[in-house]
Amino acid sequence: MAVTTAEHEKRAAAQAAAELVEDGMSVGLGTGTTVAYLVPALAARSLDVRCAVTSPRTEVLAREAGLRVERFSSLLHLDIAIDGADEVAPDGWLVKGGGGAHTREKLVASAADRFVVIVDSSKLVRALRPPVPLELVAFGLASTLRRLEAVGPVRRRDAGRSPDHGVICDYLGAVDDPQWLARTLRGVLGVVEHGLFPPEMVSEVIVGRGGRAERVHPGGGGW
Ligand code: 5RP
Repeated sequence: MAVTTAEHEKRAAAQAAAELVEDGMSVGLGTGTTVAYLVPALAARSLDVRCAVTSPRTEVLAREAGLRVERFSSLLHLDIAIDGADEVAPDGWLVKGGGGAHTREKLVASAADRFVVIVDSSKLVRALRPPVPLELVAFGLASTLRRLEAVGPVRRRDAGRSPDHGVICDYLGAVDDPQWLARTLRGVLGVVEHGLFPPEMVSEVIVGRGGRAERVHPGGGGW
């Protein structure tokens, strides 16, 4: 099967990010197809690292690759976390959670000294657009969905529960003001977490372009 440009770009970004990891570090591993390139690239470096994973999928990949996986709650902080994204805006806001793992991903990214985002070039967007993933508490779901109607349309995703038993949905309304939307969604009772990640959380973005990896600097005014 032919490998697409996007796959080449994901691999290039993932390999560049794996080079940032140093011996002895604690490393947060995100979830998704780009992270699936990161895991073997990191394992190939044969470093002594301890990894916290954001999903059962990544845990399987990491263990199979021979990486040492530890319970996240046993690691007070992480030196670095590396993860993909669905959209990266020029001002550094991200949308994450295409795989429904955004709550754990945000917890892991927030615990890291450095949060590195790895993407193929299709993920660089001029402005964020829906869907924005949501994780909702299953108990009282109907009333939470009703409260969310005041913010915008939300659709339940045809997917299983999160590893923490949350219900994964997508907010489908406008994302013109990510800061307002993030605050508003966070304030709705029953919302566990949304997939908007603020620029302050992001240390750097590594984008694959063609077969090469480039570091881009959100906040620079455009792509
Ligand atoms: C999973 C995520 C992923 O990082 C995001 O969906 C990007 O995935 P991929 O690397 O497969 O394009 O947030 O919850």
